[in-house]
This record gives sequence, C-alpha cells and structure tokens, in this order.
Amino acid sequence: MKKILVIGSAGQIGSELVVKLRDLYGKEHIVATDKCPNAGEKLAETGIFEILDIVDRVALESICNKYQVTHIINMAAILSAVGEKKPMLAWDVNMNGLLNVLEVARELNIEQVLVPSSIAVFGPETPVDNTPQETILLPKTMYGITKAAGELLCDYYVRRFGMDVRGLRYPGIISNETLPGGGTTDYAVAIYYDAVKYKKYTCFVKEDTRLPMMYMPDCLKATIDLFQADFSKLKHHSNFNLNSMSFTVKELADSIKKYIPDFEIDYKPDFRQEIADTWPNSVDDSAARDEWGWKPSYDLDAMTQDMLRAIGEKHKQGLI
Ligand code: SER
Repeated sequence: MKKILVIGSAGQIGSELVVKLRDLYGKEHIVATDKCPNAGEKLAETGIFEILDIVDRVALESICNKYQVTHIINMAAILSAVGEKKPMLAWDVNMNGLLNVLEVARELNIEQVLVPSSIAVFGPETPVDNTPQETILLPKTMYGITKAAGELLCDYYVRRFGMDVRGLRYPGIISNETLPGGGTTDYAVAIYYDAVKYKKYTCFVKEDTRLPMMYMPDCLKATIDLFQADFSKLKHHSNFNLNSMSFTVKELADSIKKYIPDFEIDYKPDFRQEIADTWPNSVDDSAARDEWGWKPSYDLDAMTQDMLRAIGEKHKQGLI
C-alpha cells in the first residue's frame, strides 16, 4: 500500500490536496509535512503531520525512513512575487529543496515523485496564445527559472536513473480554503474576498491582463489524475501544460458583477504587472489530454458562483 509524503502541506494547494488524499487512501497512508508548525495545526489534528523544511535533507530522509514512504508529492515552493523579493530563498527552496527530494527518492528507491511546475517557465519570447507543449522557455523571474530548471532536472532523473518523476505546469490557482502565498496570480483570489467583504477591489495588474487560471477542484483533479496515471503511457513527464480557463481582470470583474451588481474595481499596477506580462494567455494542453485523460470541469461563471458562495459563508460566520 502507498505511503505518500506531501511536502508543503499547509500551502494553498497542499492543504486541500492532503484532505483529498486522506479521503482516497486513508489518513494513515498520508504523511503531511510543512515547515510552519502553526500552519500545520489543522492537519495535525486530523492525521499524520510532521514539521519538515525541504532544504533539510537529513530530516527529509529520516521522515521517509520513519514512515516507509513510497511516494513523494512536493508542494513546497517560493512563488513568483515573493521570489522576486527574495531570489536566493527561491533558489534554495525550489532548487536545493527539489534536489534533496530527488536524491532521497533515488537513494531510498521511492516509487514515484510528483513535482508541480508552472506557467512561469514561459517568457516574453514564448507564443502567448495556446502556448505549445514544446516551446521557447526563457523565464524572466527567479521562480520561473527554478521551475524550468526543475522540469529539466526531473526529466534527467527519469532518463538517467529510470525513476518515475512527473509534474504539471499549474496556471494561476483560485481557491477559498487557504490563501495563496505570494504569487502574481493572487489577484484572482483576492478579488473574490474583497468583493464579498467590501464590494470593491483594487487590482495590482491592469484590466486587460489575461492569464491562464484554474479553480481548485480542477487543480486537485489534475494532480491526482496525473499521480494515478500509468507511467508507461506517459511520453512527457515533468512538464505537462494544463489549461482550464483564461480571462482578463475585466472579464473576471464582470463575472462577479453578475452576482454582486454594485461591485467596483480599480487598478494600481505594481511590479507584478511586469511578471504577468511575460506569461501566456492560454496554453495547449493536448499532451495532458492525450496521455492521461485531462479534462477540466469549471468555467469562469461556475467558479465565480462557487467562490462567492463559499466566501460569503465564511463572511457570515465572521471567519473573514
Ligand atoms: N501562481 C503562480 C504565481 O503567480 C504561478 O504559477 O507565482
């Protein structure tokens, strides 16, 4: 039976992924870890939880041994906006941390490693619409550089050591459970919270900024579908493009206005505009569709309705 180690469990995606994996495989089969003890409190109350900083290789190895880990899902990363403020930290966590994961997995014969990548691997030279699977990768952020190098490193471990390593390029992820931590696409989450709380949002990118995005239920589905996919059927490994929806900030605000007619938005672009401008509008995910059957469920309005319902509920309960 699988014993799945999740690194970075308390983050935006990790916190929901752990719950889903515990449901699927049983909570005694999931080892949730995070470097922040406080952030992991909720996870610790409901299953196995250990404090782990991905840059501490000895601790990583000892947790893998302690629980006889068979699979590793690495959700720990420093995202694009924080990465520009702390580029050395981004390198350390995203590259040295990844190398620790791959090396421990190799030494301990771990059966599978899943490492997400991002649309941040693309750059201004990349075709912006329906960005192909195989294309120019000239990222301009430290986050993008570490993710592009990370994809290459993961594929190297597949080729050189015959390991099962897989990964997918997340677009901006929108959710209502745990806030995202320091990405450029965070506006697409913050807008819903401010719409519910204040009926007003000031956006840090311009209204015509268009980026690929995805709602959390689709993100969890994609991650678990790839995790469970038959490795022998995969032609790509660590870099699957993943498309779901793609919208401008204005289109997002208009979708919210359908349900909150007096919602207002204004714009004060900051340094994150420059990052957003280097990323594509939409990506071609036919490899993910062909090789492991990827298919998204949510569109913009369906997501908006669900986000406003969930955040409205939290607001009523005084949680936000
Ligand atoms: N959400 C990420 C970011 O904005 C992109 O993968 O940094």
